[in-house]
Amino acid sequence: MSIPFITAEEAASHIKNGDNVGFSGFTASGTPKVVTVALAKRAKELHEKGEPFKINLFTGASTNDHVDGELARADAIAIRTPYQSHPDARKLANSGHMNYFDTHLSHVSQDLRYGFYGDIDVAVIEVTEMSPNGELILGAGLGMTPTLAMMAKKVIIEYSSYYQTSFRGFHDNYVPLDPPHRREIPIYKPSDRIGSTVVKVDPSKIIGVVPSNASESIKPFTATDEVTQRIGDNVCHFLAEQLRMGKMPKEFLPIQSGVGNVANAVLYGLGENPDIPQFEMYTEVIQDAVMKLMEEGKCKFASTCALTFSDDAMLEFMGNIDFFRDKILMRPGEISNSPEVVRRLGLIAMNTALEADIFGNVNSTHVLGTKMMNGIGGSGDFCRNAYLSIFSCPSIQKGGKISAIVPMVSHVDHSEHSVKVLVTEQGVADLRGKDPRQRAETIIENCAHPMFKELLWDYVKLATKSGIPHTPHYLKAAFALHQTFMECGDMSQTDLARFE
Ligand code: COA
Repeated sequence: MSIPFITAEEAASHIKNGDNVGFSGFTASGTPKVVTVALAKRAKELHEKGEPFKINLFTGASTNDHVDGELARADAIAIRTPYQSHPDARKLANSGHMNYFDTHLSHVSQDLRYGFYGDIDVAVIEVTEMSPNGELILGAGLGMTPTLAMMAKKVIIEYSSYYQTSFRGFHDNYVPLDPPHRREIPIYKPSDRIGSTVVKVDPSKIIGVVPSNASESIKPFTATDEVTQRIGDNVCHFLAEQLRMGKMPKEFLPIQSGVGNVANAVLYGLGENPDIPQFEMYTEVIQDAVMKLMEEGKCKFASTCALTFSDDAMLEFMGNIDFFRDKILMRPGEISNSPEVVRRLGLIAMNTALEADIFGNVNSTHVLGTKMMNGIGGSGDFCRNAYLSIFSCPSIQKGGKISAIVPMVSHVDHSEHSVKVLVTEQGVADLRGKDPRQRAETIIENCAHPMFKELLWDYVKLATKSGIPHTPHYLKAAFALHQTFMECGDMSQTDLARFE
């Protein structure tokens, strides 16, 4: 059967108010770029006529301005999951205009298949190649596309001509059976291929193909500043020391690295450190730094869900694509982030915190406990199951008005049981084998900024004034730093004496 080319407007007209719509891709990579713009326009027109129009938006992770930005500005999203990082979507989530629920990235595909969120009415999938029998070659990001292709009642294809070189062979599409029939995911090293290079979709479900030639529009990271550089150096020295002390296999272990400037600084640092051997990655996103490490021979292989390269780096990648063919596999998020595989491979997981408390609980998502930043992303998938789970962040924010080390985190994403090591530009707190009082000591001494150390010690003294509990907390003052910030905009003004 022949599949028609259609316009973005025609494609958008097949999406109805209240539909559950799934989008391909992971980060901006592999995410649709034209149908959603037409959909947002249609939503605005309907709203002007007084008609309701909102969709429920399911993605692999964050998207791009064409999806979250356009649809948020059109107030066209009723429900959104999982991770988002677009300022306009964040605004909706934090103002009661969108029901955003945050969940682990490895869970979304299976939760959809389990039927937790209803059917997928429409899937919009970006492809770089396709055949009339419904075999799709995806682009630079997978997300949950294989599950969407399987579940969706209708499929809209965005055919990207931006990629001049073929991505055929980079994908490892695999959907596990669901309980009670699930077997092990047979990945025993990052380079094990287990699935198919194509995603198959029933061609009778395809409404039409919309042409697109947009790039991913990913900006390069800002240059590393002194603080991120020092965090990166601290992580690298710590890992080199672990190797020297025999606390890690001498062959080293696969690395998972979160997104952002700190993650990039750590990766560059690993590349430059002569004590760190060649390594592999089992991660959800690879950024520009990894490309360079591969070219230098330091990173031998990367399993990922997306190539989140800046536009310049993507052009470089495409120009040298054959070099990377045996060094990269892209997999769906439920495989790239599979807790089972993370535990089996023994990853070194490195993620970023907004704040951590003196006992090692980490908040990655909520500013002052209430305002959603982005979401937990894959950090929970990795940190809970890794061989070694490291969290890092600058010790202070907003020029010292906020301490990232606090008596009690205002929201918990990763509990003390999963967080093994905490790193700031001040130093490293190795929490393994330490009880809460010992954790407090090592975190305050090694990670807190000098301007907040005394205040944090005063809190511990307050908490141990009338005895030594297992976990030294004084609940009345546990959020005193946050409270002071909300009152006068500066945590360092906290007066703990008033609680005595
Ligand atoms: N209280 C209030 N604001 C804080 C804060 C705190 N404790 N910590 C950071 N901020 C503010 C910063 O000042 C900055 O504000 P600005 O945008 O006005 O400048 C903003 O939050 C971002 O901080 P920054 O240090 O630049 O963070 P980042 O870009 O390194 O991102 C996370 C940090 C935690 C938001 C990000 O890593 C994330 O979303 N993590 C969760 C998901 C994840 O780990 N994914 C990877 C898994 S594979």
